[in-house]
Amino acid sequence: TRTAAVIPAAGRGVRLGPGAPKALRTLGGTPMLIHAVRALAASRAVSLVVVVAPPDGTAEVKSLLDAHALPERTDFLLVPGGESRQESVRLGLDALPPGYDIVLVHDAARPLVPVDTVDAVIEAVREGAPAVVPALPLADTVKEVEPAATQGEPEPVLATPERARLRAVQTPQGFDRATLIRAHETVTDDVTDDAGMVEQLGVTVVVVPGHEEAFKVTRPLDLVLAEAVLARRRL
Ligand code: CTP
Ligand code: MG
Repeated sequence: TRTAAVIPAAGRGVRLGPGAPKALRTLGGTPMLIHAVRALAASRAVSLVVVVAPPDGTAEVKSLLDAHALPERTDFLLVPGGESRQESVRLGLDALPPGYDIVLVHDAARPLVPVDTVDAVIEAVREGAPAVVPALPLADTVKEVEPAATQGEPEPVLATPERARLRAVQTPQGFDRATLIRAHETVTDDVTDDAGMVEQLGVTVVVVPGHEEAFKVTRPLDLVLAEAVLARRRL
């Protein structure tokens, strides 16, 4: 069975502040997207990477992929993305050639995921799980609130879920291809991850241990952390 990775990289990165599209911002001088592609291609099981690029940046992404050495064994496809992450992933899936039974979906915004995490996700799918997500226990206690109509207003707490039962979900998420495609064809609700769509089909999703370094670069402080992790690796 062959494994492909779809990398949604078409977001603007509004929360990161003004600048280039987030996936093209650099870490240690190299675009985040290139780090993410290398992180997935580092797994010997991954033989195709589908990059979903910002619609106005496909030419730039093409030249970046051509300019950076990537493993010989890995093929690449480039497709323009959509308005939402969900749409971008679907456009990536539409471009997937036959013959790939396992599909990983990985955020370009998680450039530093270790290859062991990628391999653990693939292994769990190979062993029969139709949907696998890497995740970590939470450090903070989480409250469910009644969201305020105006920002900054105090918000009443509705509930405090038991922290020990909660997990913060990362990527790459791994799927049996047919299950993921069915989820994208069937589910229309807004969801923030692909496994959430599979859950709505009634299919069981399993969690495997994630990794601290698979954190998502979302806000400016995350860039500081990512640069520090990269510098530590280069010691
Ligand atoms: N993504 C995408 N297409 C979109 C929106 C998001 O491919 N229309 C991708 C992003 O490029 C990113 C991943 O989905 O790799 C996770 O999304 P997020 O961290 O929210 O990135 P952005 O949407 O770019 O950031 P923001 O929400 O702050 O604008
Ligand atoms: Mg977003």
